[in-house]
Order: sequence, then C-alpha cells, then structure tokens
Amino acid sequence: MEKMIPKHVAIIMDGNGRWAKQRGLKRSEGHLKGSLVLEDLVVHAKKRGISMLSVYAFSTDNFKRPKEEVDYLMNLFIKMFTTKFKRLMKENVKVVFSGRREGLKANVLKAMDQIVEKTTDNTAITLNICLNYGGQEEIVDAVNKIVKDVKCGNLSLDTIDKHSFYHYLYQDLPPVDFLIRTSGEQRVSNFMLYQMSYSELYFTNTFFPDFDEEQFDIALAEYERRNRTFGEVK
Ligand code: IPE
Ligand code: IPE
Ligand code: MG
Repeated sequence: MEKMIPKHVAIIMDGNGRWAKQRGLKRSEGHLKGSLVLEDLVVHAKKRGISMLSVYAFSTDNFKRPKEEVDYLMNLFIKMFTTKFKRLMKENVKVVFSGRREGLKANVLKAMDQIVEKTTDNTAITLNICLNYGGQEEIVDAVNKIVKDVKCGNLSLDTIDKHSFYHYLYQDLPPVDFLIRTSGEQRVSNFMLYQMSYSELYFTNTFFPDFDEEQFDIALAEYERRNRTFGEVK
C-alpha cells in the first residue's frame, strides 16, 4: 500500500530552554542547537515527500520573555537567514514567513526579506517560518484585510467562505495535516488556529534539540496509522 504522507506538517518547536537546563547550559545554547536541528529536519521533510513545513519560531507572546533572550533569538534568526540557510538554497527550499512585521526590528525584516527573495523560485518544499506569529492575530488581521477589500469594492461579502478565507491569512497555505509539538506540553499556544481545524495532533516528550530525523520518522509512522474521517463515517 502507498505510504500516507502529510502534505502540510507544522511543528511547535518547544523545549529548547529545558534541554539546555538539563545540561547545565544557558537557554541560548538550546536555541542554537534547535536551529541546527531545524535545518536537518527541513532537508529530511523534503526527502520524505512533504511539500509544506510550518515551524513556530517566535510567538507574539514570546516578546514577554527577558530582553536578553529576545535579543539572542532575533540575532540567531538574522544569522540563520543570512548564512546558515545556504544549505536550504542548495536543497531547493522556498522560504516564506507568517506573522506581524510590526514589532520586528529593521535588521530582522531585512534578513527575512532577503531569504524570501533569494528562495522565491525554489520548488522542492516550502518552509513557512512563523515569526512574531499569533493564530488569533492572524485571524483578526485577515478580517481587517477583508473589511478593507470590501470597503474598496474589491470584494463582495457573499464571496467569503471558509476556503476563500485562506487567501487572507499571512500565507495562502493548505490546511495543516499533521501538528507535532515537542517537549511534552499538550497545548497549541496560539499556533495556526485556522489551518488546524482537522489536523492530526502528535505530542512527544522529546525536547526540540533532540528531535532528530529518526524522531521525525517515528512521528510520520504514527501519522500513517491515523484514520482521518473529517466528520464522515468511513
Ligand atoms: C521553544 O523553546 C523556542 C521558543 C519559544 C523560541 P522554549 O524556549 O519555549 O523552551 P522551554 O519550553 O522553556 O524549555
Ligand atoms: C510556543 O512555545 C512558541 C514557540 C515554540 C515559538 P512557548 O514555550 O512560547 O509556549 P507556552 O508558553 O509553553 O505556551
Ligand atoms: Mg516553551
């Protein structure tokens, strides 16, 4: 029988801090290791035939963290988008972002825009990096875009339905088939609320910096065992 491969996988990359603490390291070391793991996972996802990978890199609520940690993460993002991602270029990975631009510094936005532009014609897999992202914020922002379009006369109200609503989200992506959250927390923490209506959920106790290709394959094997019915009797 043919393997059931999720088209769109989303990962809540959690547990970097606890991974570091367990080893007597600074939280930042966990974030650094996590960034390396992510690089490998994207390549692995491509190898497994997944066409879309969304990752939660920084939530709107993460701005509540100590300034030192926020600054470290922002600098890590810049470093990843400017140097580390060369490999993704080689692997034909297209990078897009979801989240609010407001609140992000100019140097972060510049690095984001550059990687988007450089990878725009790549076709093997799309990596959607959710940065300064909130699921409720995304829905509210979409509604505001719709209101604007209706006011301008570009959109008539009766054409909005649950499918066309996707066009107004940060990225027009397919629904999330499979959501993975590492580190043992069993919550969605304001991630992709609209896209997740029928996602299969997978929680693992493994901290994200330890979530390697083998762990990813274990998760995908579990997805294969799921019976997706979408409300029907099958
Ligand atoms: C996830 O790891 C990374 C981000 C939220 C940026 P955490 O930093 O939340 O790690 P824990 O949950 O404190 O262990
Ligand atoms: C969710 O993790 C956000 C990211 C992984 C970027 P958090 O660690 O911030 O979420 P909570 O606090 O456990 O809900
Ligand atoms: Mg956490």
